[in-house]
Amino acid sequence: MITPQTIEEIKGRIKIDEVVGEFVKLKRRGANLMGNCPFHHEKTPSFTVSPAKELYKCFGCGKSGNAITFVMEHEKLAYPDALRWLANFYKIEIQETQISDAQKQQIATTDSLFIINSFAQKFFSDRLHNHPDGQAIALSYLHQRGFNDATISKFQLGYNPTLRNELANQLIANQFNKDLLPRTGLVVLRNENEWVDNYRGRIIFPIHNHSGKIIGFGARVIGKADKAPKYINTPENELYVKSKVLYGSYFARQAIDKADECLLVEGYTDVISLSQAGVENVVASGGTSLTTDQLRLIKKYTNHLTIIYDGDSAGVKAALRGLDMALEEGLDVKLVLIPDNEDPDSYVNKVGADAFRTFINRNKKDFILFKLEILLKETGNDIGKKNELVNQIAESLSRINKAEDFTKQQAYIKQCAALLKIDEGGLITLVNKYKRDKLTKEEKKGNQHLSNTFVSDGPPPMATPEDFGEPVEHSDTEGLLTNQDDKYEKNILRILLEYGINPWGEQLTIAEFVFAELEGFHFDNPQLEQLLVTYKQAYQAGEQPTTKTFLYHEDDAIRQLVINITLFPYELSQRWNTLEEGKTNVIKDTSIEDVSQSINYYKLRKLKKMLDDNQKEMENAPMEEQLTLIRIHKELKDMERALTAVFGTVILK
Ligand code: UTP
Ligand code: MN
Repeated sequence: MITPQTIEEIKGRIKIDEVVGEFVKLKRRGANLMGNCPFHHEKTPSFTVSPAKELYKCFGCGKSGNAITFVMEHEKLAYPDALRWLANFYKIEIQETQISDAQKQQIATTDSLFIINSFAQKFFSDRLHNHPDGQAIALSYLHQRGFNDATISKFQLGYNPTLRNELANQLIANQFNKDLLPRTGLVVLRNENEWVDNYRGRIIFPIHNHSGKIIGFGARVIGKADKAPKYINTPENELYVKSKVLYGSYFARQAIDKADECLLVEGYTDVISLSQAGVENVVASGGTSLTTDQLRLIKKYTNHLTIIYDGDSAGVKAALRGLDMALEEGLDVKLVLIPDNEDPDSYVNKVGADAFRTFINRNKKDFILFKLEILLKETGNDIGKKNELVNQIAESLSRINKAEDFTKQQAYIKQCAALLKIDEGGLITLVNKYKRDKLTKEEKKGNQHLSNTFVSDGPPPMATPEDFGEPVEHSDTEGLLTNQDDKYEKNILRILLEYGINPWGEQLTIAEFVFAELEGFHFDNPQLEQLLVTYKQAYQAGEQPTTKTFLYHEDDAIRQLVINITLFPYELSQRWNTLEEGKTNVIKDTSIEDVSQSINYYKLRKLKKMLDDNQKEMENAPMEEQLTLIRIHKELKDMERALTAVFGTVILK
């Protein structure tokens, strides 16, 4: 492991504009630099780098982070590898700590599994080409299916002979660790000490991780599978985690990058046939419905996923259900069905690569609309069923919750309303209802972990009719009960993060002033409350926390939250903005009023909310409680008046 000292040294040397500048052409614009976003296609630059804040954010696709996360995302590296990349970039020597015995054990296990798999792959390849059955039965079957020798060697296909223990004998003779052997799935132990090959008489498809190492195998019967299962797969082990496997990703990586699209099919043979035909940006899910992990892996390469199903695939409807997750991940998912009982493998062999590509491009449909069409066919004129369908679609649409996908959501709503022949406004209301339900549920859950739900900039996460351009009557407290309240909480956090350690008068710091003012108050947004608590703890531990402290926080959610808060101020008074542009961190005396003002704003909102809650309670409470509630109401009103008076003086100045 890299020592904390080295990590600190790397962080100290990082200049984000230099790091990003390695990959993106940047032009200076004011305090920031701008360029074309490397994470999505664009013609006009919306990718912003702030050297002062040490972060980047794309206004187009919403990606943001620090220099380390940039290297991680751009180069598809894990955290320690990104650190190594940066160390190399800045010519910093890396010091490593001693690793624990448990870690050593873990590394030893995965290393050994890789070695055994690689040994087995060579064995299988050799048997495919040199064993009489390999040639006569396996190789000829592969040829007959249309796979040429270059393809067979690229995908490292192989053959396991039918004798009881050819591979097992080799593994034992080469003294591989007998404790590990069963975990590879290659062999099984029978009758106490006989090792038996598990994939006898089968064609072997090695499964590679993204860097080309073999993590497992799929072993297919030759010809029709009547008695035995068609495939036997590696059991879950330290290397092979089914929910994270995307077959073919190693071979498809560059093509996916280039096409900015990932095709997803069901089977190994689909991947191989398409790749041989020159359609190389293709991976397989392994026949089960997609997992969130797989979707996230795909999102590392591209935002555009096109799923290709056999027309008769029973899995289509089940898969559609799982796909709602893709909306949350902000993936753009298209679907296409292969006609006439063909699968991608047989279809590309039949029509050729060009016709295949054309077919896919002409017929791929947006996942939501695809789903809607399939379900519409089933409903017919049944009002009850249609009602159910409308609800189902609204629920799916409500999952689009990233700010940058907002326009997309609007477009979907329009299209879906038209297809369903219902009023667009009604659908909007329903979508919002599902959003609200979800938020309430999340809030109730105890909300101990941070998610991105609340921190999106741009439109508030809970869309109101107003967001869709509809005028709304505002009552006194309208909007105050929604998460729009966040902005006052965020504003206070922003002040703390950016200016908290600066002095406040002779005795205090700004942070201490804010803490005192907020005594007894709790933020409504649990995530912001958690950040406040984290900040306070760091401050009280003497850490002098700033934005940077949290920018490299181990918790991704905290990093995101901080970036959102600091980069995109909500309502700031004029003076704070000037301060920003002047690029000075020194608080002038005059700005003290702004800190108070921000806090007063927050308190006023809070009071209004409390008044509102109290009001509601009054409506339902029994007589004997009314008196207390009225007293509370009066007290709150007094506080409100006092606060408004303060405001008056500040604003008038
Ligand atoms: P398919 O039955 O479509 O297999 O299952 P295929 O790979 O296209 O094989 P061919 O074209 O019939 O030769 C799709 C995927 O489902 C998984 C495998 O990953 C397979 O590639 N599967 C299928 C299994 O894991 N076990 C099975 O018994 C069947
Ligand atoms: Mn198939």
